[in-house]
Amino acid sequence: MKKTIAIDGPAGAGKSTVASELAARLGYLYVDTGAMYRAVTLFLILKGVDIQNRKLVQELLDEVEIELTEEGRVFLNGKEVTREIRTPLVDQMVSPVAALKEVRRFLRTKQRNLALSRPSVTEGRDIGTVILPDADLKIFLTASPEIRARRRWLQLKERGQKIDYKLVLRNILERDYIDSNRSEAPLKMPEGALLIDSSFLSKEQVVDLIYNLVRQ
Ligand code: C5P
Repeated sequence: MKKTIAIDGPAGAGKSTVASELAARLGYLYVDTGAMYRAVTLFLILKGVDIQNRKLVQELLDEVEIELTEEGRVFLNGKEVTREIRTPLVDQMVSPVAALKEVRRFLRTKQRNLALSRPSVTEGRDIGTVILPDADLKIFLTASPEIRARRRWLQLKERGQKIDYKLVLRNILERDYIDSNRSEAPLKMPEGALLIDSSFLSKEQVVDLIYNLVRQ
């Protein structure tokens, strides 16, 4: 039985849904590292910080406390922000914030410690490359940009957030570009990872596939 599972991939590939369902089925901890970057982004937006002011960003990070609950709720300095971290404004700002080395350094140890605290399914962009390079199983989950945008658009619509599909697609392409081209921990397929293209697979099929690999 594999104990540390790393799932990486671009925006909207279905990582969160797959990783949380897989973790629930295995009785493992689910670690959503994207939620942590989103919480830091929300914090900086609320503070009105110019993220080019790296010294200020670094100083303010001392004030940030993030908690992820077992059910996937997110708390920033004791206040629940589960919904607030998934708005189009955070979508737009998160990749530039996640490209800052101060922010990555701040979250790296927290993510690693959390993922190693017990058997876990951890998802993000640099899990198999940086956070858990020795993970027992590494998955790179992807799908075509149009399918990813459509899924994200439907998700936002279900949450009552009306937004143009084309804007969602543009945001996904921009985030992919920034995430893949940054100097710190860029998004790439980790060495030894298994590639799963979920374009034409259901969520259940992807979960089943990874579940069987974990148990092998
Ligand atoms: O997974 P999610 O789409 O919520 O992640 C939001 C953003 O956080 C990503 O677009 C990326 O910029 C950043 N991120 C990251 N490294 C991770 C997880 C997320 O840079 N491990």
